[in-house]
Amino acid sequence: MHHFQYKGDELYCEEVPVRLIAEKIGTPCYIYSLATLSHHFTTFDSAFKSVAHLTCYSVKANSNIAILKLFGSMGGGVDIVSGGELYRARRAAIPPERIVYSGVGKTVEEIDFALREKILLFNVESVQELDQINRRAESMSKKASVSLRVNPDIDPNTHPYISTGMKKNKFGISADSAMRASERAKNLRNIEIVGLDCHIGSQLTDVTPFVDALRRLRSLIDRLRQTGFHIRYLDLGGGLGIVYDQEAPPQPHEYARALLGELENIDCTLIFEPGRVIVGNAGILVTKVLYIKRNQAKNFVITDGAMNDLVRPSLYGSYHYIQPVLRSLKETEVVDVVGPICESGDFLAKDRGLPMPAAGDFLAVMSAGAYGFSMSSNYNSRPRAPEVLVKGGQYFVIRQRETWEDLVRPETVPDFLAG
Ligand code: LLP
Repeated sequence: MHHFQYKGDELYCEEVPVRLIAEKIGTPCYIYSLATLSHHFTTFDSAFKSVAHLTCYSVKANSNIAILKLFGSMGGGVDIVSGGELYRARRAAIPPERIVYSGVGKTVEEIDFALREKILLFNVESVQELDQINRRAESMSKKASVSLRVNPDIDPNTHPYISTGMKKNKFGISADSAMRASERAKNLRNIEIVGLDCHIGSQLTDVTPFVDALRRLRSLIDRLRQTGFHIRYLDLGGGLGIVYDQEAPPQPHEYARALLGELENIDCTLIFEPGRVIVGNAGILVTKVLYIKRNQAKNFVITDGAMNDLVRPSLYGSYHYIQPVLRSLKETEVVDVVGPICESGDFLAKDRGLPMPAAGDFLAVMSAGAYGFSMSSNYNSRPRAPEVLVKGGQYFVIRQRETWEDLVRPETVPDFLAG
């Protein structure tokens, strides 16, 4: 479900023609639909309304503070993985008691920041990290609440780069190490183990791996409780997939039904860290066709959007549906949609049937709300694209397009070169 639909031949975001925004703000640009964002948040969150839970939106999927503010205002918390994400979350006034912090490489500065902010939970990913958090908490005379992130060694059947719960992945600790770590934690006076956590991967299109992971965590909770731990939180991570092409992922209520079936009498507050399922289909990348170039092998549609704006096709071979912002009766041809970056890996689509556009036409790259802008870069010294939020018939720029001046602002020329 999303609010990007044609009215006649013109693509709209809610009540605003996409073309209007593209003309006013320029391209490439990201456009998000508020109604879609809110709908997806509510759909996910209300799927668990029968149990104590906290929906901690995963900031990495789309970190714009306006979007964080929206979910915060709807009762959501956040899952963060860096000091920068914590800074954003606090700027968006997310209450600290709704913040959980994951990640294998938390630095001393980041741990101190999170302790100062009094976040709800650290999701701890190694024994050394447990010791580090204990030392930092001790130096600040605090006690940190932690969940152990368990790597349940389950194949999530997704792209290898976004599988995170198998032995060969760097994330979490095994169930046996979790037991050993918890024994050790009994001697650490400035931390308290209060939860278990796992996140097995992203863009999962089947509930089975989630259920398998949950069963493993559940038996570990029993073991921990038997050895005297008061486990109050169970964090099941994110990972629910969306439709990009032909996938048929479970709906949030189906996902909830499968999980809740395993959770009777668990006596824990459940935490979820959804990212993509909330923002993925709520955003598009709008790009303008610059040139058409044909050779013996290929038809290239060269756009002003590129891999620095949306890296998913280049990095994972991901599919994003592309459609014209103004529909016409142009004949469909097989094309590569490519950007201006000096890499053959710079493409938004390969061998794609598309009504052949002309220079100046706008194209909408769909399902770009998750891991779109948040993974964008300045490669080839390209200013990052603006982000626009549509609400009914109005639109708001929630991030300006960067300028060439922005690109060089943090740089300095040492005196010996300045002359
Ligand atoms: N929690 C943790 C600890 C995570 O590492 C992630 C995503 C999430 C939650 C949210 O997962 P989601 O619900 O969005 O699947 N850049 C890749 C996806 C990387 C996901 C990394 N971790 C992509 O564009 O497909």
